[in-house]
Amino acid sequence: MMARTLNTNLISNKIPYEIYESSKQGAIAVAQMIATLIKEKQRVGENCVLGLATGSTPEPMYAELIRMHKEEGLSFKNVITFNLDEYYPMKPESSQSYHYFMEKQLFAHVDIKEENVHVPDGTIQENDIKEYGASYDKQIADAGGIDIQILGIGNNGHIGFNEPGASRYSGTRLITLDENTREANARNFSHLEEVPYRAITMGIGSILKSKKIMLLAWGDKKADAVQKSILEEATESVPASLLQAHNNCVFIIDTAASRLL
Ligand code: GLP
Repeated sequence: MMARTLNTNLISNKIPYEIYESSKQGAIAVAQMIATLIKEKQRVGENCVLGLATGSTPEPMYAELIRMHKEEGLSFKNVITFNLDEYYPMKPESSQSYHYFMEKQLFAHVDIKEENVHVPDGTIQENDIKEYGASYDKQIADAGGIDIQILGIGNNGHIGFNEPGASRYSGTRLITLDENTREANARNFSHLEEVPYRAITMGIGSILKSKKIMLLAWGDKKADAVQKSILEEATESVPASLLQAHNNCVFIIDTAASRLL
């Protein structure tokens, strides 16, 4: 596998990164790291807590994890998952929901226990969301914290649905989507008007509590957000740049996404 790792101390990048020749190679490498941790935890009788993302970026990683389950017997019985986000309002059975996405991309194909899967609930009464968000973060803490958090990145640098301006201390909460994000995600809906205006997302503060963070980015369209996050000063206007504050974060990118580094 062709990977190139650059040392954060030698040049001006503020977050270490690994470049792969293709998204498929990068995705397979990440799936292998996740599988290794799941198996290590199994050996010592512990759970492995994963923070999971939606979007097209992690799809090949989920495909590889399913392959490992089917062909190599990788078990998910000790895996607990927390997804980053869900549209609001959104019914879990809707084909546009992130619940549906996760079922289709991973959960239905592996032996994970239903009670170990957590995706923010897009049907909560609006008045109850504040309390719900705090309880989502508490559930993560009660599970022992996230061992590996997987992230994608929006064209505007968002992580989860933390849009530019999100506080570095934010917890799970209701947010308003940027127009830019609604447009980018409209491909999963029949019309732009159908894309919800809001979402529930884990906060930047929730994400930063993870023990390890791996942000995946493929393709030319992500190059600008990747460059700003890795090379420029951390700022709330580029949410992924706030990951510079974490001491165990790595960007896994393909050659196209590394174009501006
Ligand atoms: C959505 C998700 C993000 C994801 C982003 C990028 O907005 N909430 O978690 O990182 O899309 O999507 P894609 O991977 O399809 O480029």
